[in-house]
Amino acid sequence: MIRKLMMGLAVALMAIGSQSCGGQTRPENRSGHDLWLGVISANVNAVNKELLSEYDDVLGDEGFRIKRNVKGESVIYANTEAGLMYGTYHLKRLMDCNVKITKEILEVPAYKYRILNHWDNPNLTVERGYAGKSLWKWEELPAKIRPEYEEYARANASIGINGTVLNNVNADARMLSREYLEKVKVLADIFRPYNIKVYLSLNFAAPKHLAGLKTSDPLDKDVIKWWNEKVAEIYSIIPDFGGFLVKANSEGQSGPQDYGRTHADGANMIADAVKPYGGIVMWRAFVYAAESPDRAKQAVEEFMPLDGQFRDNVIIQIKNGPVDFQPREPFSPLFGQLEHTNVMAEMQITQEYLGHSNHMVYLHPMWKECLDADTYQKGKGSTVCAETLGNVHGNRTYSAIAGVSNIGDSVNWCGHQMAQANWYAFGRMAWNPDLSSKEIVEEWLKQTFTTDKKFVEPVAQMMLISREACVKYEMPMGLHHTFKGPDHYGPGPWDRSSRPDWEPAYYHKAAADGVGFDRTSKTGSNAVSQYNEPLRSIYDNVQTCPENLILWFHHLPWDYKMRSGRTLWDELCYTFQSGIDDARSFIKTWESVEKYVDPYRYGQVHEKLVRQAKDAIWWRDATMLYFQQYSKMEIPSDCTAPQHTIDELRRFRLGITNYETPALNRLPEYTLE
Ligand code: GCU
Repeated sequence: MIRKLMMGLAVALMAIGSQSCGGQTRPENRSGHDLWLGVISANVNAVNKELLSEYDDVLGDEGFRIKRNVKGESVIYANTEAGLMYGTYHLKRLMDCNVKITKEILEVPAYKYRILNHWDNPNLTVERGYAGKSLWKWEELPAKIRPEYEEYARANASIGINGTVLNNVNADARMLSREYLEKVKVLADIFRPYNIKVYLSLNFAAPKHLAGLKTSDPLDKDVIKWWNEKVAEIYSIIPDFGGFLVKANSEGQSGPQDYGRTHADGANMIADAVKPYGGIVMWRAFVYAAESPDRAKQAVEEFMPLDGQFRDNVIIQIKNGPVDFQPREPFSPLFGQLEHTNVMAEMQITQEYLGHSNHMVYLHPMWKECLDADTYQKGKGSTVCAETLGNVHGNRTYSAIAGVSNIGDSVNWCGHQMAQANWYAFGRMAWNPDLSSKEIVEEWLKQTFTTDKKFVEPVAQMMLISREACVKYEMPMGLHHTFKGPDHYGPGPWDRSSRPDWEPAYYHKAAADGVGFDRTSKTGSNAVSQYNEPLRSIYDNVQTCPENLILWFHHLPWDYKMRSGRTLWDELCYTFQSGIDDARSFIKTWESVEKYVDPYRYGQVHEKLVRQAKDAIWWRDATMLYFQQYSKMEIPSDCTAPQHTIDELRRFRLGITNYETPALNRLPEYTLE
């Protein structure tokens, strides 16, 4: 299939070192608009590049400098071909964004491992993927090679991504079979010139499933032997294989605890196998058991006793928040607890809980909120960013960051035209976490649409507030997980169709006496104790707890008086309303820039923005009408009037399978005026 790539830099016909990537043909143009707008077909010879004769320690293996020579031309200097490639893309970015180079540029990536995590299955479905089927056509590989594989590599290289985990964390053991490794090799070979390594998610029970061993116990001699041989086989096929991502003893996945062993036993066994080849193991901290009274506490409870027991090439991969990629969570306290263990953050680029590919939500502000959060582990300045860079404990060797990909085989790569900005932003953030949300979104808009500021300014502004808008219209003030069923699209605070810790009531605890999860020290689950001071006390005390997280940490009566002077009930209603108003304003903003956008992309985005605003009212209706049964309070008359009764909304069924994005015309009827 021919696809449209609008990530500005990604398709430039640039040389990488001495190797040319030219010869790519322009894809079919379905809209009649030039979709390569903003992309320069840079003449490979026109970029001046020089490998340094002496190794420059400041630049390392991926950094570069851009200087002006006596002729006034820009010259890129680096220690390596990879550095020259990143410099070339950077130069092109500056040109596309009309930035004049006035002084020497020095760029070195912050994180060493900048990795996309694909949740793609061998059967081509993508778990929580909202952009069609998997990009990897396993049934065609290794024989047939699609041009998209190289386009993907180029897009990633242009934003500094240097690793990709190809398959779902809920891993199919088959991925480690010889048959699949031959397929993986093809992708690894295509990605290598772009400085991208491949990684795989492994199924911990692979020794049993693939080799028929009686056990997958990580301390069993035969199991250890099997992994060592398997790893040797992988490296014989893919010499620069990156390593493994592991989801163990979580949501039904097998793991070392099945054999009475610890996460450290399991991780170390794999780490020892990949160590001689320079591989790493990313071991996920996303573990929780249905019986726990507070899921948010479990990662710390599980991993703290193991601190210091992991090999140095193991990195514990921690989701940004303690529950699961909700529109707003406090940062996971595990970042500020582990002291002798490498930690990395896992962000979600795919919008599992933020409107799938129907909603325009620019996610960089959410990720930055996490990275900038101070854990206070070693006093002020121990931010999540500093922790994951290894700056707090001084171990920088394995600094890493992962993003769960939003890429599929959809013609626009990410399902929603504007969702490409999230892929782009993740890469730029991994390269430089100090860049602001505004800088990144403006770069993306300029390269993808136009540099005209009459377009860039309003659209950037709309995107910059879109994450907060989503929080407000979905789950304001610390509410979380109020979804209906496992699709994670659309509200269902009443839903009781699965295990208790997957049901909304576990999280919102709405009742006649109020709403919110009490995680305080005196009356609640004491999850606050997992945060370092002063945060522990700040969160514990309802007077000091930030109101945008208040129902995460406190259970409060409906008439609780907020700092605004309103009751909690009214504050909730007005916060939802503000989210609805923002979503409505996005339509107006988009309409105001129509002339700067081709009709094809304009129409697609417009249609989805309309649905987003309708969904905002749907969320409010469902949540507040449900809560109203307990609060017995009225939705203020100056708020948008509900358009459905609670019974109608309860009866509504999405009717989707495999967690895909629901079609716009299958969602509840709403009018906007
Ligand atoms: C969420 C998501 C699952 C996914 C899991 C994970 O629970 O809904 O589909 O497998 O996260 O991160 O492992």
